Amino acid sequence: MSSKMNPEELNTFALKIAISQSRVASSTGGRGWWRRKGGRAVQKPEQKKTETRSVVCASGDPSGLSARGMKALTPGRDDLQQFMQGLSDPYHPVTNEDGYLVLLVAENKLCWSMLKTKFSQCRDIEDWVPCYSDFKGVLRFREAISDMLQDTFVQAPVSADCILTQSGCGAILDSLAWCLAEPGDSCIVPSPLYPAFANDLRARGRVELVKARCKHPDYQLTEDILEKTYQDCVASGSNPKLLLLCNPCNPNGVIYSEDTLKMCIQWAACHDIHIICDEIYGNSTYTFAEGFSSISKVCRDLNPTSELYMGNNVHVAYGFSKDFGLSGMRVGVLFTHNKTLLSAVENLSYFQAVSNDTQSVLTKVLQDKDFVQEFVSENRRRLTAAYTGLEDAMAAIGVPLTPAQGSLMAWADFRRYLKEDTWEAEQELWMELFESSRVLFTTGSSCQSEVPGFFRICFAWPSASEEDPAIAMKELKKRLVAKFGPAK
Ligand SMILES: Cc1ncc(COP(=O)(O)O)c(C=O)c1O
Repeated sequence: MSSKMNPEELNTFALKIAISQSRVASSTGGRGWWRRKGGRAVQKPEQKKTETRSVVCASGDPSGLSARGMKALTPGRDDLQQFMQGLSDPYHPVTNEDGYLVLLVAENKLCWSMLKTKFSQCRDIEDWVPCYSDFKGVLRFREAISDMLQDTFVQAPVSADCILTQSGCGAILDSLAWCLAEPGDSCIVPSPLYPAFANDLRARGRVELVKARCKHPDYQLTEDILEKTYQDCVASGSNPKLLLLCNPCNPNGVIYSEDTLKMCIQWAACHDIHIICDEIYGNSTYTFAEGFSSISKVCRDLNPTSELYMGNNVHVAYGFSKDFGLSGMRVGVLFTHNKTLLSAVENLSYFQAVSNDTQSVLTKVLQDKDFVQEFVSENRRRLTAAYTGLEDAMAAIGVPLTPAQGSLMAWADFRRYLKEDTWEAEQELWMELFESSRVLFTTGSSCQSEVPGFFRICFAWPSASEEDPAIAMKELKKRLVAKFGPAK
C-alpha cells in the first residue's frame, strides 16, 4: 500500500498511525508500559509494539527514520572502504616504504612539525574555556582570523564583525545552503568538482547541485557556460539560487582570473543569485603561481568606497583544514557583508560551534603574526616541492597534468592507460592501481568529470620528511613506472 503513496500522503499516513499509536499508548499508561498505582510497571504485550513501530515511518523503512533521515544515509563519498583499507597500512618513508600511498584525501601533513611545536607552546586552559561562550566565535578569535585573512590571501579589509566560525568549512557550506535556498532549489557548481559538495548542499539544506560543464584542457569558466547551465536548470523546473566556486579549485588546482571572477559577480547579480566562493586553499598557492585573487579583493576593486564592498550576495567560505593542515580541529569561517545572513547563520552556529579549547589555542597561534607569515611561506614552498615531484612522476609515465597553481591536488589524464573509453574502464584502472601498486587516487567520476580516464591526486597527505617534501612523490613515480613502464 505505501509504495503507491507520494511523499506527502506517506507523511499523513505516518502521522495518522503515530496519533493512533499515541492513543493506544495513553490508554495503556503510555510508552508501552502498563502502570499499576503503587505497584511495579509491567511491560505490555510485545506483539502490539512491533506491529505499530514497523509502519510509523514516512519512508516505509522499519528503522523508523523520516524521509529526510533516509536521504541522509547516503555517504558523502563513495571510496570510503578503500580509504579505510589504505589507512590500515599507510606508506611512511622510513618505517613503511611499501605501505599504501593514500592520495585521495585533501589533507596537508607537510608542515605539521612546525605547527606542533607552536601549538604546544600555546596550549594552556584558560578559565573561560570550559564555559559557554559566543557560538559564532569569541571576538579575539574572530579578530585573529580576520587579521590573518587580510594579511595573507584576501588582500582587502576584513572586519571581525563580518566573520563567523563553525566546525569546518563543510559546516559553513551546509549553513549557507540552509539559509540562502529553499529545499529543491539548485546550486550551480563548475565541474570537475570536489566530490563532497553535493552532500554539503543536500544533506540538510536539500539543495541540488547542478554542474556547469567546463571543458578539458583549461577548464575555463565562461558566461556562456553559466548561462546555458542556468537556462537548462530553469527549463527542468528547478530554481537556481546559488553559484558555488572553489578557488583554487579542488580537484584541478586551477585558479580563476580576476576577469572571470568579475564576470561571475556581474552574471550572478543579473540573475539575483548568491555566490559562495570556497577559498579554503587560498594560502596554498604554489610559489610560481601568478594572479591569485580572492573574490573579496575583486569586489573591493569594484566598490572601492563601500565598507560593505561585497554587498549582500557574495560570501567567502574558508577553513583551517587545508592551508594549516588542521582538519581534525574543525574550524570553518564565513566572511560576508550580509548582516541578516550573519544573524541567521549565527543562530545555527549553536549546533556546530568551534570548541572554546580550539578557539583559545588557535587564537594564540594566529596572534603571532611573524609565525603565521613564516608558516604560510614555508608551507607554500613545501607544497610547491611536492607538486613538482608529482609533475615529475606523471611525466615519467607520459600522463599529462592540468597545470595547477594551488590547492593540495592535481588532475591527471590517465586516458592512455584505459582499456576502453568507459567509466567501467576508469573504475577498473583505479582498482588495479589500488590492488597491484597500492596507490589510491580519487576517480574522475567521483569529481563529475566530463569524460572517463582522469584521476585526482592529493599529494600532501602521505608523511614526508622535513628535508624532502616530495619523497612520497618519488615513491609514486617508482611504483607507476614499475606498473606502466617509462614513457616512450
Ligand atoms: C573545497 C573544499 N571545501 C570544503 C572542504 C571541507 O573542509 P572542512 O574540513 O573545513 O569541513 C574541503 C575538504 O576537502 C574542500 O576541499
